[in-house]
Amino acid sequence: MKDIITLAVESSCDETSIAILKNGREVLSNIVSTQIDLHKKFGGVVPEVASRNHIENIDMVLDEALKKASINLDEIDHICVTYGPGLVGALLVGLSYAKALAFTLNKPLVGVNHIEGHISANYIEHKDLKPPFITLVVSGGHTHLVEVKDYGKYEIIGQTRDDASGEAFDKIARAMNLGYPGGPIIDELAKKGNKKAIDFPRAYLDDGYDFSFSGLKSSVLNYLNGKKMKNEEIIVEDVCASFQEAVVEVLANKAIKLTKEKNYNILTLAGGVACNNALREKLNELGSKNNIQIRYPNPSLCTDNAAMIGCAGYYEFINGNTHDMSLNATPNLKIGQRG
Ligand code: KG4
Ligand code: ZN
Repeated sequence: MKDIITLAVESSCDETSIAILKNGREVLSNIVSTQIDLHKKFGGVVPEVASRNHIENIDMVLDEALKKASINLDEIDHICVTYGPGLVGALLVGLSYAKALAFTLNKPLVGVNHIEGHISANYIEHKDLKPPFITLVVSGGHTHLVEVKDYGKYEIIGQTRDDASGEAFDKIARAMNLGYPGGPIIDELAKKGNKKAIDFPRAYLDDGYDFSFSGLKSSVLNYLNGKKMKNEEIIVEDVCASFQEAVVEVLANKAIKLTKEKNYNILTLAGGVACNNALREKLNELGSKNNIQIRYPNPSLCTDNAAMIGCAGYYEFINGNTHDMSLNATPNLKIGQRG
């Protein structure tokens, strides 16, 4: 059978990325141009700055992706692109670019859901992985427990009612002036702290599968303010370790509970927070106690990249799901939503 070559574009937030894949799971190139340094001084992503920067970078990223993969544009079989969820201006840059490529090359266009891309990063990392399984999506904008029933078939079982897990990491880091993005910084500092030092609240929301992190966030902010008002020393490493433990414990317990309830023996992790060392450790520990395999992608495939979009789009493509030129950016696109 002839190889299928995918070109994928991702620009939903602050990384401009283009990847080339062979048969959906083999990455020939995955170029990621991050804008983190540009946004750092603002403490978060500035949408207008992100859009402008995508425009400036995208041609160069395409050239590099083709060169690294040793592929010419005429060898591409289809074009995949993230069309939501994300920042509308940022999404529109990648989407317009992908449409122009598809139109000029006369190749099919496949719009991809960014979160489904995060989940699909696991197919690239674990060549033997096949649905069905449970996945815990933990990123800067999303926290979901999802049953992956088949390629491209998802059922959301639980989700956050307020802040996303990555957002909580970023906000707490900001409150302590630790820098942006907060997740990796807290992860590092927590290694030197005592996770039992401060008893922050865990929200189990009556043991269902939804999450809530805003109460925890307020509790950490109150703790920090209280210490400042009393002029008492704040042990940053202990705050990081105790906060992280409160997030990780709830994420891990709910994910394992759902995997057991649905009788699966595979649980995958997806999204930027899937890089978190404490989360990986806790899940590995609970997984081995409960006979559940824990799978996660390499950190470079956990954070935003176009290879994951190409993998998700490949399965859409071979299932006959393509889009026409009327495809629009959909900032609030839901997992499993088509069209
Ligand atoms: O998936 P992602 O790259 O972007 C979104 O789609 O949102 O996730 C970015 C998020 C940020 O909130 C960042 O702080 C968090 O992932 N993150 C981490 C770690 N590395 C990245 N959170 C906790 N621990 C980490 N090691
Ligand atoms: Zn993402």
